[in-house]
Amino acid sequence: MTAKLVLNSGGALKLPHAATKQKVRVNPRKLLASLESLKNVEAVQHLRENILDLRGELLDSHSNLLAFTGEIEPAEELSLDYLLEELEQIAGAFTLERSRYYLNRLIKGLTTVKTGSINDINLNRWKEYRDINTDSLWILDRRDNSGVHSAQYWGNFVPQIPSQLMKRYTKQGDWVLDTFSGMGTTLIESQRMGRNGVGIELQAHIAEQSGQLLEAEPNLYGVYNRVVVGDSTRIDYRQVLKEAGAKSAQLVIMHPPYFDIIKFSEDAADLSNAPTVEDFLEMMGQVVERAGAVLDRGRYLAVVIGDKFTKGEWVPLGFMTMNEVQKRGFQLKSIIVKNFEHTAAKRNQQELWKYRALLGGFYIFKHEYIFLFKKS
Ligand SMILES: C[S@@+](CC[C@H](N)C(=O)[O-])C[C@H]1O[C@@H](n2cnc3c(N)ncnc32)[C@H](O)[C@@H]1O
Repeated sequence: MTAKLVLNSGGALKLPHAATKQKVRVNPRKLLASLESLKNVEAVQHLRENILDLRGELLDSHSNLLAFTGEIEPAEELSLDYLLEELEQIAGAFTLERSRYYLNRLIKGLTTVKTGSINDINLNRWKEYRDINTDSLWILDRRDNSGVHSAQYWGNFVPQIPSQLMKRYTKQGDWVLDTFSGMGTTLIESQRMGRNGVGIELQAHIAEQSGQLLEAEPNLYGVYNRVVVGDSTRIDYRQVLKEAGAKSAQLVIMHPPYFDIIKFSEDAADLSNAPTVEDFLEMMGQVVERAGAVLDRGRYLAVVIGDKFTKGEWVPLGFMTMNEVQKRGFQLKSIIVKNFEHTAAKRNQQELWKYRALLGGFYIFKHEYIFLFKKS
């Protein structure tokens, strides 16, 4: 035993490790056998030393806990952070009782799966999900431009939005409905994550372009993701789903035009051409009613929208739209505020906007909302 223990004033071990995203391929039988053998250790100090040894082994690429290529026994890929954090908690506990509690929790996490009914998150290993943001403030500093995603469509959202939503609110094989699919960001993510999806887009040429992107995106799970040309305020969602091979949707995502901030087309059915804010809200109400009808009970509807500023007045389009959804019986579960950075063109005008804001007594938009509702 060579490990050096660092004790804090209370006598417990402090061993913070630097967070990594690394995965380790372990031999689960050997790891579990090592952990099980520690259940009967009688002294907390002894337990700590053994746990530190185990920790050292996980960090040692020659350890026999790790699975090597060619090994006959099956290997399991685990998050190194998760394992290190759990081991550090066991070693850092003040009492033997507490150490054993954490030890049993780790064994349970490695041997049993506990998932809810609306996602595939294993709650016995909840610490592993560092990539899932559970805060109501999302500061995303970079858009995910990987694969076929393109930032070229003016008004698309960052792929992290649908991917976060699908991780929390869908299981693999579920159906996602995007009522304003644009360049298909949701469907591309859905295909990557093994979900099925249907998008509705008013502009045929945009639907076609997004269809081409979907074809170029690998479909490793063999799922169905297509865009249908149509008006989301009137389309027969039940029929659209039926043609795709689904009875209902398990998640609805809506990313409408933010009223007239960006004019998407000349079509009168386009929400960005609604004559007034009231008309816009009425159209949104129709989309919510129709698309909401094909959403399963207990499942989620997300609306991504920002506010607007007109004639010297802040128009809280986000909250107005939120009210429309609530009026239709959906339960508000969260309001997420997400930052956005201006496009390169807008960035050049920023100095001017600062001047205007100082002169006009207002603040410059730097955020939008993701409203989350549950259908009860
Ligand atoms: C904010 S964009 C959505 C962008 C999408 N989330 C993406 O990442 O590409 C809104 C889209 O809604 C479409 N749209 C507007 N009115 C519509 C309607 N009545 N039915 C279907 N699509 C509509 C627009 O053509 C535009 O592509």
